Amino acid sequence: MTRREWLRQAACSVVTAGIPALLRAEPREQNADPAAITGAGSLKAHATARGLLTGAAVNTQLLRTDPKYREVLTQQYSIVVGENCMKFGPTQPKPDSYDFNDADSLVSFAEANNIKVRGHNFVWHEALPDWFAGTATKENAKKLLVDHIMTVGSRYRGKIHSWDVVNEAIWIQDGRPDGLRSSSPWFELIGPEYLDLAFRTARQADPNALLTYNDYGIENDSETETRKRAAVFDLLKRMKASGTPIDALGVQAHLDAASTNSFNKGTRELRDGARHLGLQVFITELDVKDDGLDDDDPATRDREVAAVYRSFVGRMLEGKEVKAVLTWGVSDAHSWLNGKRWKVKHPNRSQRPLPFDDQYLPKPVFFALRDSFDEAKRR
Ligand code: G3I
Repeated sequence: MTRREWLRQAACSVVTAGIPALLRAEPREQNADPAAITGAGSLKAHATARGLLTGAAVNTQLLRTDPKYREVLTQQYSIVVGENCMKFGPTQPKPDSYDFNDADSLVSFAEANNIKVRGHNFVWHEALPDWFAGTATKENAKKLLVDHIMTVGSRYRGKIHSWDVVNEAIWIQDGRPDGLRSSSPWFELIGPEYLDLAFRTARQADPNALLTYNDYGIENDSETETRKRAAVFDLLKRMKASGTPIDALGVQAHLDAASTNSFNKGTRELRDGARHLGLQVFITELDVKDDGLDDDDPATRDREVAAVYRSFVGRMLEGKEVKAVLTWGVSDAHSWLNGKRWKVKHPNRSQRPLPFDDQYLPKPVFFALRDSFDEAKRR
């Protein structure tokens, strides 16, 4: 029986007393009454009770324009991250000028509501400004990297819980034995040492922030993800061994409800690997796409999506390594997965990957997350 067949069976049979509570797909309670999901019933309260931070990626345009969006953020979350506002392109639109309007609005909103902030991200092969390709050279790339990190990092010094210093530097398909993404402009211009340079500079820019290496496709038991996960840990081991300052591993967790792969080995290796290296773990960009599910019925898809959250987060929280769980967005309406590019199998069907629906009403995912927090060990 594949994981998907097992989950469908688990999702359908509410009387699954024989199956360990941890993996039971059907959330215990789904009382969506506002009073039941805010205050003591909020994700924040249930996570805090376990010493966990819980949060979401924030779209700063909605932050400015949508009062309900702001309300959900303050009610439900103890940590937030900018979906785009702190990336290289948006913060440095010109070689010699920075734009911090959106990033400032996120940080001041968080400070005003006693919410922590994750910084995302200093060094990535995407979201680079239009000027970069025509300006960056082997001669000036190191200076560009250092100036950017020092300028952005020191502006928010002491206000950032953790920074994704380098994002997605492993790409096995580029064919290197170490799995490094040699097609990244940072690798092409500086070489593999750009990672060490980035982390050392980030430590200088903000000595308080937890410096994080962030990546995706390292969560399940498939051969592909097992190889990538091993390459990520080899990289982290090398960095630790050479004294590079690094404090945490960011596991993006963009998961797939149509996948048949389980998470047993994947989650164990993530937790054990991080513990052995003395690294904290943050689940940084959690969502579950459902474009691959045949059944159009939203309730069925919601159950399957919630079951994947339950299965993955439940296993990740079996240990104490994971300190924060963030979803990549708040409501399905604004998820990147509802961009045309990501709706391949069902181009006219909206994906339902997040805890809240288009009306900011809690979905089975909300309760699956909350149940996972309740069954977690206290950190
Ligand atoms: O802000 C401009 C707007 O001025 C312009 O009119 C519009 C049309 O081109 O583009 C807008 O920028 C877009 C930005 O999202 C804000 O909407 C960029 O084109 C678009 O590429 C960008 O997409 C983001 C993508 O990262 C690339 O940075 C997605 O929202 C964001 O969800 C996604 O997030 C990534 C994580 O950072 C890393 N891990 C994977 C994750 C999903 O791809």
